[in-house]
Amino acid sequence: MVNEIMEKALNEQLNAEFYSAYLYLSMAAYFKNNNLPGFANYMEVQAKEEQDHAIKFYNYIIRRGAKVTLTTIEGPKTEWDSNLEVMEHVLKHEQYVTSLINDLVDLAIEQKDHATNNFLQWYVNEQVEEEENAMDCLAKVRLAKDNPQVLYDLNNEFATRVYTPLAPEDQ
Ligand code: FEO
Repeated sequence: MVNEIMEKALNEQLNAEFYSAYLYLSMAAYFKNNNLPGFANYMEVQAKEEQDHAIKFYNYIIRRGAKVTLTTIEGPKTEWDSNLEVMEHVLKHEQYVTSLINDLVDLAIEQKDHATNNFLQWYVNEQVEEEENAMDCLAKVRLAKDNPQVLYDLNNEFATRVYTPLAPEDQ
């Protein structure tokens, strides 16, 4: 069992992961409208991964005998001034998600919920990767800022990103 405090916090993070999916899908739509289908593909894959992060919370809450409570997902931003601004937003958002996960870990420790702390370590590791990917993309988009050829090549590179579902043991 998880206690009510932990149950509420886990449900909030479930919602936050769906919000991330919404945000990245909104960014994908922005790129589609700006004729960058490769960039859009990158964000669509990211949105699918965020849904997996949400479902992992969903599965865990149920496994622990607690109640899943789905709530309204806030509408994300729909317009950005540039490709660069989108990528800066991605990094800022992932840093924010890292802070949410860290707060959850702190709470699990405070509540002496060692199983949940252990479960959350998957997200702690995932956030290292998420921030690393965001920094890498941001650096590339900075290089492409005033160079159409680099932007063209980057769009092709982002088009190759493929969605891989979580392994069953990680779901
Ligand atoms: Fe679910 Fe992008 O972290």
